Amino acid sequence: MDRLELPRPDDWHLHLRDGGALADLVPHTARQFGRAIVMPNLRPPVVDVAGALAYRDRILAAVPPGLAFEPLMTLYLTPATTPAQIEAAAACPHVVAVKLYPAGATTNAEGGVRDLDGLGPVLEAMAAVGLPLLVHGESIDPAVDVFDREAVFVRETLTRIVDRYPRLKVVLEHISTEEGVDFVRDAPPNVAATITAHHLLYDRNAMFQGGVRPHMYCLPVLKRARHRHALVDAATSGEPKFFLGTDSAPHVRPTKETACGCAGVFTAHAALELYAEAFERAGALAKLADFASRFGPRFYGLPVSTDTVVLERRTWEVPPSYPLDGGELVPLRAGESLAWRLVTGPMRVV
Ligand code: DOR
Ligand code: ZN
Repeated sequence: MDRLELPRPDDWHLHLRDGGALADLVPHTARQFGRAIVMPNLRPPVVDVAGALAYRDRILAAVPPGLAFEPLMTLYLTPATTPAQIEAAAACPHVVAVKLYPAGATTNAEGGVRDLDGLGPVLEAMAAVGLPLLVHGESIDPAVDVFDREAVFVRETLTRIVDRYPRLKVVLEHISTEEGVDFVRDAPPNVAATITAHHLLYDRNAMFQGGVRPHMYCLPVLKRARHRHALVDAATSGEPKFFLGTDSAPHVRPTKETACGCAGVFTAHAALELYAEAFERAGALAKLADFASRFGPRFYGLPVSTDTVVLERRTWEVPPSYPLDGGELVPLRAGESLAWRLVTGPMRVV
């Protein structure tokens, strides 16, 4: 197969940052995807509808002319979030979910949640209004090994949330382990997961290939090969609980290439091409359209796009860097070639 046409896909987990970075980042995603769930881990975080709508306007101002791109906004759950804020979010068509960061688990997660039990009324309200909880599923217990943080969180925390709030829609974001896959697979249909391209393509050896590779460091951190195999199996299984979320997370070069570098892999420049490579390696290209374009909208109760995009087998070289906010970022596969290329974007005029 040398050509693949699919409904215009959506990215169900994306970091777009803010300010001057938006003009550099939004075009990468808007070229490929019709919608994207935009993460709220700004500084300060997006915690209410007013903040989300103002952020949405700044994103829309950075969409290149001629592209129809819809940012789907999220709120950042904090210990101060109230049921009234949840009801306001549910009444706003542009806010589609609430993000749970365990406090300190990742980039700008300091304002996140330490005590989930204190959030009962908020989670009840979310279940009642049908607002999904998007979970960064990693334990923040410093005694837990970094490679075990997802499995421990799933076992000790997520199981409890899903049992206690059976009507709550939950997405375990960027799953990275066999334990994560098994949990989501066995859970009821209100529980789903996103999977990144980098977790499908790489295991933890990629971080240490000939030396330390800071651009391969993300959270949850890449795991050993058997976990990657479980993720590939889930993504290509045709189960509607598993769908595309890039977790593309840009950082300027000096904050990655340093003694204590930020977590994040940038994939938005070639997201669909990278997923196509992973699916092709698994002999499952025919399953890509469901994973990338249909299962996400189904979970979120949104229509599948009526636009299409086309991928062609056409080798191209990824640039060594892209501009980011006056500096530059190093994308995944910088200076290397990719086998698939998105050749037509949707050109519906807005
Ligand atoms: O690698 C990551 N980068 N993981 C996250 O959870 C956050 C993200 C970021 O915002 O940079
Ligand atoms: Zn993320």
